[in-house]
Amino acid sequence: MTELVQEIHKRLTFAIISHPDAGKTTITEKLLLFGGAIHIAGAVKSGKNPRGATSDFMEMERERGISISSSVMGFEYGGRKINLLDTPGHADFSEDTYRTLSAVDSALMVIDSVKGVEERTRKLCVVCRMRATPIATFVNKLDREGKNTIELLDEIEKELAIEVRPLTWPIGQGRSFKGVYDIAASAIHLFRPGQTRAPTDTIAIDGLDDPRLEAEVGESLAARLREEIALVGGIYPPFDKDDYIEGRVTPVFFGSASNNFGVKELLDALVSTAPCPTPKETDERMVEPEEQKLSGFVFKIHANLDPKHRDRVAFFRICSGKFERNKFYYHVRSGKPFRTANPTAFMAQDREIIDEAWPGDIIGLHDTGTFKIGDTLTEGEGISFKGIPSFAPQIFQVIVNADPLKEKQFHKGLNQLAEEGVVQIFSKPHRPNVRVIGVVGRLQLDVLQYRLEHEYGSTVRYEGVDFTIAHWIAADDKKVLEAFVDEHSSKILIDIRNTYIFMSESPWNLGYVKKNNPAIRFYSTSEMVEARA
Ligand code: G4P
Repeated sequence: MTELVQEIHKRLTFAIISHPDAGKTTITEKLLLFGGAIHIAGAVKSGKNPRGATSDFMEMERERGISISSSVMGFEYGGRKINLLDTPGHADFSEDTYRTLSAVDSALMVIDSVKGVEERTRKLCVVCRMRATPIATFVNKLDREGKNTIELLDEIEKELAIEVRPLTWPIGQGRSFKGVYDIAASAIHLFRPGQTRAPTDTIAIDGLDDPRLEAEVGESLAARLREEIALVGGIYPPFDKDDYIEGRVTPVFFGSASNNFGVKELLDALVSTAPCPTPKETDERMVEPEEQKLSGFVFKIHANLDPKHRDRVAFFRICSGKFERNKFYYHVRSGKPFRTANPTAFMAQDREIIDEAWPGDIIGLHDTGTFKIGDTLTEGEGISFKGIPSFAPQIFQVIVNADPLKEKQFHKGLNQLAEEGVVQIFSKPHRPNVRVIGVVGRLQLDVLQYRLEHEYGSTVRYEGVDFTIAHWIAADDKKVLEAFVDEHSSKILIDIRNTYIFMSESPWNLGYVKKNNPAIRFYSTSEMVEARA
């Protein structure tokens, strides 16, 4: 095996997807403790404030401050080099989270056993499914009275359109929670409330009729477990790793993160089954990680928090080949060479300069304005990675420069912050000076306004628009598209790639326009549409 192949097999690059409060921070912390990346509990900053202390907006700013160090947490465990990518935790939703998912090879979905499938999880799952990203599931908070297990699994299957394969099964829940039954190994892991050590007490049993089961969990829970496992065997086919890797089924584990129960078993399962770096799609062809030549893309750009220093960190995901410090690479969008003397690796609490990095790794490139989100680096080939789509914003506002003397600052700030992914900018056909801002969550508007003022000295105000639904549009025949655009010009926007977007004010209106224009295709992400020449 070559060094490249060995390094690829070691890598496990994933993100945790969940609704706020399901337990992501708690699990992250336990994973890092097992990986020896941190040594004391409480070291992972939750991105949360003491309740009510500050506004959501302040929280987002604070998060920006800590997220360089927590965006990518690297650690080693079980012979694998694990890169855990953080998805921002604030309550409002931003595109940053979507983009982070383009840089992972699998995801861990955390579900609160009391609340079941929640809104944010639903949205993130849609993004994972677009790319067939494999998802493993951890049902958390079994120490609380939650939903009936079979009903909860049904809910996951129905709401998230993915088949489940329970690999463990809870024995009781809430106050009567006794632990989990490992179905394949025929063993029980016993839960002791408040325990913080790992591994948990595990007892191998000889099938579910083994008297040791009853001795440990009591007669009635043992009977219920026998009944439920019989049902499970009838409902769910055995777990097939390929189905998981291809994103068709999700293996499900149960536990209680705050009690450190089930997390080590989860990590062991991920280490043995979660995929190593997978092939990635470009507009031109599939790129295999084993290819000798380097390729990768920028999925996130992070501005220095100090406004006096305009430099930024570009987060670069390596897709193939080996990255070397000081080597010249090809920056595809500009056609220019790129070289860096100080690429950084992200370890759990540190950044350190590295000499080389491998597929699956995320490295930080010091950026003085070279990169935009989605940029590709190669050794000369003109390819461009898919998977960094712009998502249709749900809130639109016209942005107006409130101080005519600061026109330059306004444009510079707006462009740079759009490149950083804070907002999407659109213009109107024939009216290039009208700038429309699109965001996924309202907080992004406040952040834009605040940062324009504090970092660029530009004051702005917003004006409302009366449409809320955006679709990128395309047609086989260019003339048909242009005729449609002319006819609906008051409802057309143009994005930075020069692609048309059709805006509607209601689903009814959209349906009507679609019905009357069958030659036009409507898309909810920018990725499916070719940019206009
Ligand atoms: P998040 O990052 O997904 O938003 O969730 P986080 O880990 O911060 O957990 C949210 C809350 O749920 C925390 O309580 C945490 O302690 C609790 N929690 C996590 N895992 C479990 C579990 O297995 N069982 C129970 N009962 N609770 C769990 P908090 O009150 O917000 O914070 P804290 O005071 O406990 O730190």
